[in-house]
Amino acid sequence: MKKLVLLFSVSLCLTTFAAEPSIPKPLNTTCPITGKAVNPAITFIYEDQTFAFADEASRQKFEADRAASIYQKLGGKAALDAAVELFYVKVLADKRVNHYFADISMAKQKRKQKEFLSAALGGPNPYVGKDLRTAHADLDGLNDSHFDAIAEHLQATLQELKVDSTLIAQAMAIVGSTRDAVLNRPVKH
Ligand code: HEM
Repeated sequence: MKKLVLLFSVSLCLTTFAAEPSIPKPLNTTCPITGKAVNPAITFIYEDQTFAFADEASRQKFEADRAASIYQKLGGKAALDAAVELFYVKVLADKRVNHYFADISMAKQKRKQKEFLSAALGGPNPYVGKDLRTAHADLDGLNDSHFDAIAEHLQATLQELKVDSTLIAQAMAIVGSTRDAVLNRPVKH
């Protein structure tokens, strides 16, 4: 009987050990820095995602880029997600612009905006959604006043979340740089 209990305990230990969560495998097969095939042994974990790189120098650059990013300084994914939620509360309450969103799935829109802003502000994942020209091409009468209203709400959101004013200015400069694309103006050379 003693032997049986011992055997049971050992097998229980082994099962527990086997079930221990391991480091997640990287999803990317192309190095985000060089575009070359990755070496799966060279990885870096950021916000619970494992990224793989072609070489050690790329891993170090990726890590340094993250540390220097506006995205990280803002507080990363949690902060960006919260900001976009609050931003759309303001947008949908604003008669100057809310008619544009009348037939839009706001769950999808929030997800896409989170993805876009995260990438634009230096988050770890590239933006893979529609380019901004295509996304806004069918919005009738879209002009500077609408763009300014949207930018105003983003700025007010970041201020309300007590983001440092220098950081807000940096984020708004990046958002401002999308104006010509959003308003479908010719590309300046
Ligand atoms: C401030 C700069 C802006 C940024 C960075 C931005 C970003 C985006 C992004 C990432 C999408 C989703 C693209 C996709 O489908 O993959 C989108 C869609 C959309 N945006 Fe903007 N946007 C901006 C300005 C505006 C303005 C000024 C308006 C109107 C007042 C607007 C209204 C919309 C609408 C209605 C859609 C959904 C289009 C559709 O699904 O058919 N956006 N925008």
